[in-house]
Amino acid sequence: MVFYRSVSLLSKLRSRAVQQSNVSNSVRWLQVQTSSGLDLRSELQELIPEQQDRLKKIKSEYGKVHLGNITVDMVLGGMRGMTGLLWETSLLDPDEGIRFRGLSIPECQKVLPAAKPGGEPLPEGLLWLLLTGKVPSKEQVNSLSQELQSRATIPDHVYKTIDALPVTAHPMTQFATGVMALQVQSEFQKAYEKGIHKSKFWEPTYEDSMNLIAQVPLVAAYVYRRMYKNGDTIPKDESLDYGANFAHMLGFSSSEMHELMRLYVTIHSDHEGGNVSAHTGHLVASALSDPYLSFAAALNGLAGPLHGLANQEVLLWIKSVVEECGENISKEQLKDYVWKTLNSGKVVPGFGHGVLRKTDPRYTCQREFALKHLPEDPLFQLVSKLYEVVPPVLTELGKVKNPWPNVDAHSGVLLNYYGLTEARYYTVLFGVSRALGICSQLIWDRALGLPLERPKSVTMEWLENQCKKA
Ligand SMILES: CC(C)(COP(=O)(O)OP(=O)(O)OC[C@H]1O[C@@H](n2cnc3c(N)ncnc32)[C@H](O)[C@@H]1OP(=O)(O)O)[C@@H](O)C(=O)NCCC(=O)NCCS
Repeated sequence: MVFYRSVSLLSKLRSRAVQQSNVSNSVRWLQVQTSSGLDLRSELQELIPEQQDRLKKIKSEYGKVHLGNITVDMVLGGMRGMTGLLWETSLLDPDEGIRFRGLSIPECQKVLPAAKPGGEPLPEGLLWLLLTGKVPSKEQVNSLSQELQSRATIPDHVYKTIDALPVTAHPMTQFATGVMALQVQSEFQKAYEKGIHKSKFWEPTYEDSMNLIAQVPLVAAYVYRRMYKNGDTIPKDESLDYGANFAHMLGFSSSEMHELMRLYVTIHSDHEGGNVSAHTGHLVASALSDPYLSFAAALNGLAGPLHGLANQEVLLWIKSVVEECGENISKEQLKDYVWKTLNSGKVVPGFGHGVLRKTDPRYTCQREFALKHLPEDPLFQLVSKLYEVVPPVLTELGKVKNPWPNVDAHSGVLLNYYGLTEARYYTVLFGVSRALGICSQLIWDRALGLPLERPKSVTMEWLENQCKKA
């Protein structure tokens, strides 16, 4: 019965998708899960040959088709607008935001299995979707939850490696160090050393990726408890799903915080391929570095303030507003504070984006969560005020391409409300979630045999000469 209800919901969404085919025609939209198989690896095994043929066909039939011209602005502007990567798991539309395998965030909230009726999606369901392009059943999600639980163990040397760092080291440094220490277990590295045939590369990559996804919450929780709770760690609870268990190991037991963590892990997982962390993971993996090496590199990119660290910066900035002006700050005062930030040569964290040109739907769904659960929270009300005040100021600046809030503008106040107040830790949560997206694509990189990434670079002299000739 549940299956048929979800099929009918899916067919409604599918007909809407046909109307929106301009947005979603490049993705395998909403394949209804017909198989009852509970094993994700077998699902992938079935899908891979079909997708390998598809890629071969694209190469042979369209290999010489032009996708646009490269301008000097693009070369000097961080490759903005240059199409140059294959990334199967998600696609970003500048106005509409992210779609995971064709599904927008509200659609994921409707069709992915939840822990309770009408609740937030379980991240395991999103992982299944990212890997297969199919919406899983609740049974498949439960089975994947158990698989991840069974893989969630950490060798002792990982904790010792983290302990070798000062407890004051930035949480992202401790987290990335832990991930690097996990690398000694890499199945891919072992198989490569034994001379595995390249057609089988995806198999140990799958093992590493699933182990890594299962292990990162434990490493992250260890860092949190080490830094902020005197090293008093909390063992995993095998009865809980991925998001709830992560919150539990951090020390949060309320069902609302469990829901928040499910939503958080789901929406931060993937944002197509060109953002700094995803691109770094993909680039490093293109040298056949294993998932641990690739993901640790991605984390180092995520730790930059223009990317993942912005979530830390937002809460610290909001707290500085409150410290200076109080919680009941007027819009005029807030506007002055925003100008003061800009005039001191800083960015307003949580606003703007390299690709998006409208409010980030990841912001919107967190706002909806706040409206439902914490409408009276003073910091949430301040975030709402910022939504009104900041965009006109950034627009007035005249150079900002997107004055609207991004995902990071909201996440901190939600976490802060439930007691996770240590802003310097926030990017680690983002990192745990990113493992789902980066590792899913990495498995497909190997299955599709994607090549070493090696774009051409040029000097200023080369550019000057080329432009004079043009
Ligand atoms: C995300 C971000 C790095 C995108 O950068 P981008 O693609 O270069 O953005 P733009 O093309 O709009 O930038 C044009 C100019 O506006 C500035 N700008 C963009 N967003 C800004 C912001 N939130 N506050 C102040 N200035 C901003 C840029 O710094 C740049 O200035 P410059 O020409 O003097 O170097 C940028 O918007 C930013 O720094 N935002 C704040 C940090 C943040 O929230 N990061 C998380 C992103 S998910």
